[in-house]
Amino acid sequence: MAPQREIALNDLQARQSALMHTHLAEQIAASAGWLSFERFMDLALYAPGLGYYSAGAHKLGVGGDFTTAPEVSPLFGACVARQCAEILSALGKGHILEIGAGSGRLAADVLLRLETLGELPDRYCILEISADLRERQSRHLARHLPPRLQERVHWLDQPPEQSFDGLILANEVLDALPVTRFRWYHDRVEELGVVIDGGRFAWEARPANAAVTEACRRLAKAGGAWDDGYESEYCPRLTDWTLSVTRSLRAGAALWFDYGLPRSQYYLPERREGTLLSHFRQRAHGDPLLYPGLQDITAWVDYTLLAESSRAAGFTLSGFTTQSFFLAGLQVDHEMQIMADGDDARFARLANQARQLMLPGEMGERFKAMAWLRGLDLPLAGFALQDLRHTL
Ligand SMILES: C[S@@+](CC[C@H](N)C(=O)[O-])C[C@H]1O[C@@H](n2cnc3c(N)ncnc32)[C@H](O)[C@@H]1O
Repeated sequence: MAPQREIALNDLQARQSALMHTHLAEQIAASAGWLSFERFMDLALYAPGLGYYSAGAHKLGVGGDFTTAPEVSPLFGACVARQCAEILSALGKGHILEIGAGSGRLAADVLLRLETLGELPDRYCILEISADLRERQSRHLARHLPPRLQERVHWLDQPPEQSFDGLILANEVLDALPVTRFRWYHDRVEELGVVIDGGRFAWEARPANAAVTEACRRLAKAGGAWDDGYESEYCPRLTDWTLSVTRSLRAGAALWFDYGLPRSQYYLPERREGTLLSHFRQRAHGDPLLYPGLQDITAWVDYTLLAESSRAAGFTLSGFTTQSFFLAGLQVDHEMQIMADGDDARFARLANQARQLMLPGEMGERFKAMAWLRGLDLPLAGFALQDLRHTL
């Protein structure tokens, strides 16, 4: 089967794409010609040795497939560090566990700022699924951290078994969890899956099973009156996944950062095509069936589901706000002054970056921050200026 593509690929990409196509085609054949989109997304992102996150082809940052807040500016990490310092100080001591650390920038920026704040964690653990990104993180940390800080960094294959006090951080990880894609009609619900049609991957709808139908009926109640043909998605594994990665946190906080919305806004009738988005070489497009293994596939986070998951995992939902207010609450302006250190040109660069992180039309409103607390009762500075929990 020929890989479907519109953009010229280099040899390595063409080889990976061809292998991924064969693998997916085998999986489709093994499931009687129809693979749920959730399974397709899981394989496209995580199939060992082939998936976008498990093979080596993807890139973050300028010139890569997409850019994240820590890639935009060290101001993001500096503010996250201030939030961590508040929590570590209340705990007395603790560890940080970062999930999905990308290029390693956030880890480096957080550790450097925590050292100057006098609140270093005993260990900074990184749970990273991608071998390629682990290497990239290790190179970044070796270049940017002194050995005394590098010694605190450890990589994990699985969530820690031993309980610990401290913090869990995850920036733009939840949006990569596989989602179920559905289509709504007033008298029935369909689940969308992937078939092979004329040698290419194509969508095909099937009657949804009872679990998917029930989940969609609940979402429809929250979102409003959907027209026939309304399509969207939800993440059936979010609660179990967050439970599994936070299980060993005895006391402390989990901080989640991602683009997303409360459920009533996510499932508005006018958002009739859902939020699935693919990224390939800084080009965002709406066809997740293209370039499997070579492109990122994401969906917005249903923050109401994330809030429900906090309760299921035994946490208190401590804060929910936009990225803009999170950074403002942590005195991003003060961090700019410190970083610029009197250099006007550097200050102007940082001010530009702050605008990208904070303006409503950029990352400021689309991206949200959510805090869960366990065994700790503490007002958090990042959530003090704006409390959006009532929208959940
Ligand atoms: C979009 S990138 C974000 C990277 C980084 N946090 C940042 O903000 O630049 C997603 C990261 O999560 C990792 N990842 C995705 N799914 C994961 C999972 N189930 N467990 C651990 N890491 C995961 C990816 O390998 C990658 O490092």
